[in-house]
Amino acid sequence: MIDTHTHINMIESISIEEILNNAKENGIEKVIVPSANPKDFPEIAELINKYDNVYGMLGVHPSDAKDWDDSLINQIKDLCNNKKIVAIGEIGLDYYWDKSFNDLQKDVFIKQIKLANELNLPLDVHDREAHKDTFDILKQYNINSKVVMHCFSGSVEFAKECVKEGYYLGIGGVVTFKNAIKMKEVAKHIPLEYIILETDAPYLTPVPYRGKENQPAYVKYVAEEIAKLKEISYEEVKNVTTSNAERIFNL
Ligand code: NI
Repeated sequence: MIDTHTHINMIESISIEEILNNAKENGIEKVIVPSANPKDFPEIAELINKYDNVYGMLGVHPSDAKDWDDSLINQIKDLCNNKKIVAIGEIGLDYYWDKSFNDLQKDVFIKQIKLANELNLPLDVHDREAHKDTFDILKQYNINSKVVMHCFSGSVEFAKECVKEGYYLGIGGVVTFKNAIKMKEVAKHIPLEYIILETDAPYLTPVPYRGKENQPAYVKYVAEEIAKLKEISYEEVKNVTTSNAERIFNL
């Protein structure tokens, strides 16, 4: 399996070697590490050079939109000469933490969509309490990039709208939470062909480790829950979501 969105550079309780060993022991062969801030770029470049099964994404998170600078466009283009940079992310809109610079968030999002289109890389999209604006901007500006709605948090209806556009949904630990009725409905009703697995570690740790620090190995609990909800085998979830991820990110 592939953990398609995991901040292994932010996990504090164990080393990178332990993280990758635990992942391997639990059937997670590859991980993709997004950046949130330009300060993360050197760290991601180092990780993908050092470890064969670690891939990266470059982008500026909406909550860090104030750190955007147009000179980053050329910087990202240069770093993307390394074929282990497999997407632009995480980028998008976040109206949960701070609504005071929504317009700036939109500008920075649009600039990065255009950049991904130019580089022909997929978009790894963060959408928190901004479903309508995120969707409208993607529809208006994205021409040729595949789209992943990372840590999908919308309704089944919104999920269906996304799938109609050909967007993929990244599903993580939240689906295992007992009270996550909406997420369970999404996992149940959206075709497996549009789902990929992620942890968003160190956050959003699935049951049975909820409350502790998350890590890529725990992707298996997400896969188990999706299998249970869809009443299909763990093997099928594993095989289909892995080939989805390989196709999207060209792994
Ligand atoms: Ni993230």
